[in-house]
Amino acid sequence: LKYVWLDCDPGHDDAFAIMMAGHSKSLKLLGISTVVGNQTVEKTTINALKVCAISGLSDVEVVKGAANPLMRPSMVCPEIHGDSGLDSSVVWSVDTKSPLEKNAIVHMYDTIRSTFLETGKLTTIIATAALTNVALLFSVFPDVKSMVESVTLLGGAMTVGNMTPVAEFNILVDPEAAKIVYDSGVKIFMVPLEVSHKALITKQILERIQSLDNSYFITLSIELLKFFTQQYMNLFGMESPPLHDPLAVAAVINPSMFTTRLLRVDIECKSDLCAGQTVCDVWNFSNKPKNVHVATDVDLPAFYDMLIDSIDKSNKQ
Ligand code: BDR
Ligand code: CA
Repeated sequence: LKYVWLDCDPGHDDAFAIMMAGHSKSLKLLGISTVVGNQTVEKTTINALKVCAISGLSDVEVVKGAANPLMRPSMVCPEIHGDSGLDSSVVWSVDTKSPLEKNAIVHMYDTIRSTFLETGKLTTIIATAALTNVALLFSVFPDVKSMVESVTLLGGAMTVGNMTPVAEFNILVDPEAAKIVYDSGVKIFMVPLEVSHKALITKQILERIQSLDNSYFITLSIELLKFFTQQYMNLFGMESPPLHDPLAVAAVINPSMFTTRLLRVDIECKSDLCAGQTVCDVWNFSNKPKNVHVATDVDLPAFYDMLIDSIDKSNKQ
């Protein structure tokens, strides 16, 4: 059993990452923190609570994290996720509890530390959003680093970005935070866009999900994915959208599903043109220690099975 903390900004793809993290038999989900990203942190927090409530994960605590990146103005993404951050044609009908009334960074620290003291287990941090909360955690409580197995994240790109020619959204939102995390000495496992753009929600995958049930939950899931599909079509002209975030969860559940390369990766923070670029030193020009396990491929059929299984479990809870 792996102990995990999920830091996210739901977000359509984050919603499915929550379901996968909450329903995997190999994971114990210790809690969820939210951050500004796809929408304001107020909205991403409500969304995390809604997703937990609807998928049988109401016992998982949600704590509201950073409202702004460390040094830059915040940036949200309604063009993909809509005004609520989880738009679809279906109205959310679910009662949610409140977020935990605690500072997120203090709560993450307390949880990871008490997990270590009580069980001897390290915690894996899964990050599917900007790295602001994780950077604050490592900066304010540096001793936590020895209690963290890895930061496994969805973010960055080896080549082409999705927000600028070179930057991926999660890293672009808070490049300084990403730099702190990538330079922290903690093991980093990164799933970049090159891999997430293989995990497309195709018509066949939508049909597989639809065939699970006719329930409200499955209808909502399908409509969320259809909204996401439409936005990707409008913005990128792609017929099927990449469901990024659950890949980071899959990488913790079953790392052998991924092919990886250990590389030096540095975060560009100074340039305006290239801010948020994850500069992957494939030829090791810098001679600096290699710091990131970069995923280069995924066993897609295995990933799809895992995704659909977690949707099925969320539906049946
Ligand atoms: C990432 O950006 C966010 O909009 C998604 O939720 C995902 O985490 C993809 O670039
Ligand atoms: Ca996300």
